[in-house]
Amino acid sequence: MTTARRPFVHDGIAYGCDYNPEQWDPSVWAEDVALMTEAGVDLVAINVFGWSHIEPRQGEFDFTALDRVIDLLAAAGIGINLGTGTSSTPPWLTRLHPEILPMTEDGTLRYPGGRQAWCPSSPVFREAALALVDAVARRYGSHPAVELWHVSNELGCHNALCYCDTSAAAFRVWLEARYGTIDALNSAWGTAFWSQTYREWDEILPPRATLSTRNPGQQLDFHRFSSDTLLDYFRAEAEIIRAISDKPVTTNFMVTAHIENLDYWSWAADMDVIANDHYLDNRLSDPRTELSFAADLTRGLAGGEPWLLMEHSTGAVNWQPLNRAKAPGQMIRNSLTHVARGADAVCFFQWRASVQGSEKFHSAMLPHAGTDSALWREVVELGGIVDRIAEVAGSRVVSEVAIVFSWEAWWATQTESRPSHELGYLEQMHAAYAALYAQGVSVDVVAPGADLSGYRLVVAPGLHLVRAAEASVITDWIAAGGTAVVTFYSGIVDENDRVWTGGYTGPFRQALGVAVEEFAPVAAGEPLRLTSGATASLWSERFRATTAAVIDSFADGPSAGGPAITRNTWGEGAAWYVATLPSAADYRALFARVVAEAGVTATARMRAGSDVETVRRRGENADYLFVINHGGDVAVAEATGHDLVTDAAVSGEIEIPGGSVRIIREEALV
Ligand code: GLA
Repeated sequence: MTTARRPFVHDGIAYGCDYNPEQWDPSVWAEDVALMTEAGVDLVAINVFGWSHIEPRQGEFDFTALDRVIDLLAAAGIGINLGTGTSSTPPWLTRLHPEILPMTEDGTLRYPGGRQAWCPSSPVFREAALALVDAVARRYGSHPAVELWHVSNELGCHNALCYCDTSAAAFRVWLEARYGTIDALNSAWGTAFWSQTYREWDEILPPRATLSTRNPGQQLDFHRFSSDTLLDYFRAEAEIIRAISDKPVTTNFMVTAHIENLDYWSWAADMDVIANDHYLDNRLSDPRTELSFAADLTRGLAGGEPWLLMEHSTGAVNWQPLNRAKAPGQMIRNSLTHVARGADAVCFFQWRASVQGSEKFHSAMLPHAGTDSALWREVVELGGIVDRIAEVAGSRVVSEVAIVFSWEAWWATQTESRPSHELGYLEQMHAAYAALYAQGVSVDVVAPGADLSGYRLVVAPGLHLVRAAEASVITDWIAAGGTAVVTFYSGIVDENDRVWTGGYTGPFRQALGVAVEEFAPVAAGEPLRLTSGATASLWSERFRATTAAVIDSFADGPSAGGPAITRNTWGEGAAWYVATLPSAADYRALFARVVAEAGVTATARMRAGSDVETVRRRGENADYLFVINHGGDVAVAEATGHDLVTDAAVSGEIEIPGGSVRIIREEALV
């Protein structure tokens, strides 16, 4: 994006939801708006799935119902987050143009009847969708209640990777622009292997299902192409809106566990404000820490600025194998964790629980049980808190630690042939983040190559794919006095998935002072002990410390006797290398040592409380200390100022009852 970002203007922290009034008889709408007011809702996303309602037949627009909903919301002073309505196609479109349907890797079509049944490369889909965007932008582009434009919905949630012939043709165009010549493509993909050398662009296909494993370079580029294609689509919608309306434009990202298809580092600059959807993933061993990680990553995408939590849930979702209800108070804690980590909006999917359709068992702000329910009372309570913490809006999280996150490394790690299928990129990221989180320090999540000045500690977990220039940013920063931790499977391939030879960790090798010769992964359950008594799992490798000091060694397993954890002095700084996955407790112990060595300060001084999250946001006039007690026991933190949650002055050692949150304006500290 070349133009300056348009600010999202809202009074305080926004509180809101997706609202799908088309699912209800209009007689319900007035009650909806009255209850929204009671709960303190002041930002509502509408028309997200509106296409078949506002364009019932091609080119015939009917805005009667949407006009009425907008009038009702506007009259109540509720801001509108206006969906363009393009995320799910109307039946008339797929009947007229079945060629827009997406194709999976095995060559089978995916049909309408769900959502996002469109190929991201389809010009036919694009033309129809952009006509809708144009009509919506013209009708509401200068409506005073519209605060924000919500392009499509979770772009790429289901249809990111389409393998149809239209996608194949678009992939070739993208490849030609990237490589210029077919020889350059052959070199990048390593097509000398298995007789894959291309002579003509037309021979190239998307990486459709094969009998054997596929070309990893081709798969990597297909990920890049697919991410770029949807970004290009976003740009097309945004361009139309920006020409007609002066309101900010965004789309809801999916920075959440296991959604890997879009490289949001390349998308972020196109958003006027970053917005994210996050759902607790109870399939993970530690869903709550993942929530904090995702919020920190979203803040990273926002360049440290505030961002909007566009969707999360009041209770259970409907799409996990077991959809857990939230414990009493958990929704408030989850919401305020997002705010602590930079969100200036707390929004939910959705307002009123559906009674039909596939999401009828998804929680909502207004549950099936109605207002005489614990959930509704908690929704109202949270609305009150969000009001009382209005002054937090605009402040920024303070952090001395950075963790490097890369979608490209994620894609390259997960290729079909790898040393161990138990090795996952995100799992390594979460393990390192959890060990840092346990130190009570704040962590920024940054892109490879990002400026590291200002940090005391940088962690690069499993940065498998890395460009030489990106690695140099880290090693130069170490040489200038920084402390870094690099973990195994980092520095293995370049941007074309080509192995860095001469000893693994490639461009990190010298700074780390190690020469890794061979991977030696271990199976789940196999013993792996270190000489210090620490335990580990998943991974070992055979290497020599060239200039590094050996901190710990493998006591058993396939690399017994060799180093496992090393520390090298590099210039003015220190470079740690961790060649295994320590147990959670041992990882925490390791980071306690590294954090102390790097001089990183804990966010708050705690006297008691074992399950407490602390984050500080810095405003122009005050700091705001968030203390979120996830445990059942009273926690005791040192803080002086005014608690915005209970609206009371606090000083010295303050008690935070189990399950509750304190947000303290620390006027004295600035
Ligand atoms: C996503 C979508 C919503 C809804 C929720 C359910 O976030 O954007 O439309 O389907 O998931 O969790």
